[in-house]
Amino acid sequence: MRNDPVVPVPATAAPFAVVQAARTALADEPEHDRTVFLTRLDRHWPDLVTGLRAAYDGRADEVASRVVQQAASSFTQRSADLRLLDLRRHVEPDWFQSPRMLGYAAYADRFAGDLRGVVERIPYLRELGVTYLHLMPLLQPRPGPDDGGYAVMDYRRVREDLGTVEDLSALAGALRAEGISLVLDLVLNHVAAEHEWARRARAGEERYRSYFHLFGDRTEPDAFEATLPEVFPDFAPGSFTWDEQAGTWVWTTFNAWQWDLNWHNPEVFCEFADLVLFLANAGVEVLRLDAIAFLWKRLGTDCQNQPEVHALTQALRAVGRIAAPALLFKAEAIVGPQQLVPYLGVGAHAGKVSDLAYHNSAMVHVWSSLAARDARLMTTALRRFPAKPTTTAWCTYVRCHDDIGWAIDDEDAAAVGWSGPAHRAFLSDFYSGVFEGSDARGLVFQENPATGDRRISGTAASLAGVEVALERGDDALLDLAVRRLLLAHLVALGLGGVPLVWMGDELALRNDQAWADDPEHAGDNRWAHRPRMPWELAARRAVEGTLEHRVFTGLRHAVQVRAGQPTMHASAEPELLDPVNPAVLGFARRVPGSVLVALHNMSEHPQEWPASELPLEGALVDVLSGEPPEAQGGVLHLGAYEVLWLVPA
Ligand code: GLC
Repeated sequence: MRNDPVVPVPATAAPFAVVQAARTALADEPEHDRTVFLTRLDRHWPDLVTGLRAAYDGRADEVASRVVQQAASSFTQRSADLRLLDLRRHVEPDWFQSPRMLGYAAYADRFAGDLRGVVERIPYLRELGVTYLHLMPLLQPRPGPDDGGYAVMDYRRVREDLGTVEDLSALAGALRAEGISLVLDLVLNHVAAEHEWARRARAGEERYRSYFHLFGDRTEPDAFEATLPEVFPDFAPGSFTWDEQAGTWVWTTFNAWQWDLNWHNPEVFCEFADLVLFLANAGVEVLRLDAIAFLWKRLGTDCQNQPEVHALTQALRAVGRIAAPALLFKAEAIVGPQQLVPYLGVGAHAGKVSDLAYHNSAMVHVWSSLAARDARLMTTALRRFPAKPTTTAWCTYVRCHDDIGWAIDDEDAAAVGWSGPAHRAFLSDFYSGVFEGSDARGLVFQENPATGDRRISGTAASLAGVEVALERGDDALLDLAVRRLLLAHLVALGLGGVPLVWMGDELALRNDQAWADDPEHAGDNRWAHRPRMPWELAARRAVEGTLEHRVFTGLRHAVQVRAGQPTMHASAEPELLDPVNPAVLGFARRVPGSVLVALHNMSEHPQEWPASELPLEGALVDVLSGEPPEAQGGVLHLGAYEVLWLVPA
């Protein structure tokens, strides 16, 4: 395994032979489509080759020619409808940065039974204002525990109980017709130990053995483990698993039955280029690149965020751009701020890697500010956060299907006079409900005695205090919890990007008390916050006075208001205001000619904000309420957990 990154020589135009081969493959296509394809090849060939050279050096050009052939043959299979979508995206390349965007994430079975069921629920999604639907892994997983579908056994088949690839295409088409983009995971760091590649590797086939990181003894695993962090210290300690049949140690970053792929082998790249094209032709518009940070291994490092990861993403994206340019990439990299922004393309990769990435830090800081009733740390952290390229967007969110790890930076904490470790411990105490006065009902996930880490599982409502308030039958407490829940979502809407709602949070669903009843889930309490959709309860969103009505309509209203605010375009970077009142989070958003100031009271106590401290002058209106803000003598008043979106009246 080579250890130093290669600095590739930039490539120029595609060689004549590559263009000719593509021309031949496209011989039966209409002249116009063939020209369009060749134009895109011309445009993206340099990105493809340069990306590949950084990883595969001498073999890069040959690999590039091969994947262009794959792209050409896949293009011949691309439907007229999707070719039209490609054109639409060319015309409106910033479509995903629009203030109209709202994402929704759900397991297809838990949301609607199966893929056909999801089609029937499109009106519900429309009602909320959804424009982007992330369906959790639905390709054929391994039998038995499958990490919520993240252990894929066959990428070309849909999980049987959910439907078929035809159903998937039909669903994508039905969503597209309603203005909703389908988002699926591409699990590219690992496959299930039952995947054909792994089976053939175990059986001794050399070609497939080279798809994985296999080691005859502990020498290399030990050397790597000296600097590798553990992802699942609790149920899958270590990063290597002994496989009896293969007679080797296998690299398994996550669970023992998730085999890490060897991306140092260009054959793996070619396989995934094909899968990307296959999913794009099925109508998938965004691929969530699962655990992308882990793709490239380098001795002496934590084997995350290596430069080759970005080079390979660039190459993979170039393949997509040539054959199916409507396709976007979303990086799932839960890494520190300095490591994160390169996933959206900095330097040589600007505009060439992922279009979207999760803003894990903003998510963590919302919960942190709410627990502390203090927004100074969040303000400091977001101010220090490197700016993203203006053509990309953050996915902002309140929580997702995973646990929340307290990614609070020690230096940020020190900047506000706090201790990082003490604050992280406080957050774990607070959200697991053991901190005196906490109304949160989270569960501790993957306690790591070595690092003191205690990550937290739980639905947004349970973390915000709804569960405790309902149990106590305390209406005043419930009112505060609902405000907290809505505030958390409003921060995500205001900071976005593409704000994401996790299924059920729009109805204040609490933790699933029966999460452990399924023996395959019993060891993984993340299932507590992956409930089934109780449609009878969802119906109460139409009944005034119910909890479901209050949360659903509150959220929907904010989504609708946001859609009309040009400042919410993702090209605008929120500017954090000085925390003149520590309990209030404030930021401004500007696009030429417009400005909006968002203020959030992170506490249950009334707060004030001097009008002189607003980057806005004259009469103001809060677009959320449609009213002027409450103010006296030059001071604005914010009620418990109140949010104001202020613009000039
Ligand atoms: C991602 C997923 C997580 C999964 C892991 C391994 O982080 O979000 O649920 O366990 O990848 O695939």
